[in-house]
Amino acid sequence: MRELPIGIFDSGLGGLTVAGEIMRALPGESVVYFGDTVRCPYGPRDPHEVRSFVLQIGTWLTRRCVKLIVIACNTATAAGLALAQQVFDVPVVGVVEPGARAAVKATVNRRVGVIGTVGTVESGAYSSAVRMLDAGVTVFSVATPRFVDVVEQGLRLGDGTLEEWLAETADVYIRPSFYEMARDYLDPLKRSGIDTLVLGCTHFPLLAAPIQQVVGPKVRLISSAEETAREVAETLEARGHLAEAGAKRTETFATTGDAGEFATLGARVLGRPVASAEHVDLPALEELLSDDLKQRQTVFEEAGACS
Ligand code: DGL
Repeated sequence: MRELPIGIFDSGLGGLTVAGEIMRALPGESVVYFGDTVRCPYGPRDPHEVRSFVLQIGTWLTRRCVKLIVIACNTATAAGLALAQQVFDVPVVGVVEPGARAAVKATVNRRVGVIGTVGTVESGAYSSAVRMLDAGVTVFSVATPRFVDVVEQGLRLGDGTLEEWLAETADVYIRPSFYEMARDYLDPLKRSGIDTLVLGCTHFPLLAAPIQQVVGPKVRLISSAEETAREVAETLEARGHLAEAGAKRTETFATTGDAGEFATLGARVLGRPVASAEHVDLPALEELLSDDLKQRQTVFEEAGACS
C-alpha cells in the first residue's frame, strides 16, 4: 500500500496548484494527476452532472490503484465529496474544508470573503464548513467565474507569468480589463470589511498577485493548497500509508484534452518540466460510470444528502 500513488483530479489545470503543494510537502510520494480539461469549466454545470464526473474520474483513479484521492477542485468537492467518500474504498480528501479551516485560523475580525465558481458559491459549502468550525465567523461569498477563463486563456496565450500576461494584454484580449472586472467582483467584499479572502477555486492562486492588488494589502489571501497537503499527510500517516523514505517515486499526468498541450501548460503551473501526459478518451471515461454507481448516485441524491 505504501508505495501506491496519490490520485489527484480537477476540471483542468487549476488543481495542479494543489498537486504542486502536495508534491512539495510529500516529496517521496508518487502521484497520478487527472485534468478533465475537455469538460472544463465545471463551475456553471449542474451539480448532478459534476457528481457523475467525480464518480467517473474516481473510478479511473482507483483502477490506477491510488491509495488516496484528492478532489483538487472546489466545485467538484462541493458537489461530490460526500458521495465519493461513500462509494470509494480509499480515503477521499476535498479542498473546501481545508480552505475553510485555514480562513478561520487566519481571520482576526471574523469576517471572511470567499470567491469561487457559481457551483461552489451556490452550494453554500464554504459557509457551512466555516460555520462548523466557528459559528461566529460571517462569510461573504461572490461567484467570480470569469477568473477561471482568465487563467485558462492566460496559460494558453502567454509565455511569462499570468501577471505579466494580464499587464501586457488586458486591453487587447479582455474587455473589460482584468482589473475592472476584478474590482466589480471584489469591491463589494472589500466594503463588507473582510480581513481574509478565500481563493475558493483551485485556479485562483495563479491570480493571487493581481487579486491582492485589488483587495489591498490588509486582506489576507487563503488558498486551500497547503492545508489540503497537510490533511493528505495526516491521513496517510494515521493509516501507516506514507511512502517509505527513499522509495522510487513516479509522476503521471492524464487529461481528457490534448496531451501535449496539457504537459506544456502543466509545466507552467508547476514551474518545472512535465515530461508527458496521457490522453484519456472521454467515451471510455464515461463508460466507467457503472449501473451500480449510477444507482448509488440516485439514492444519494434522493436522500437529499447533497443539499
Ligand atoms: N478548479 C475548479 C474549482 O476549484 C474551477 C474551474 C471550473 O469551473 O471547472 O472549482
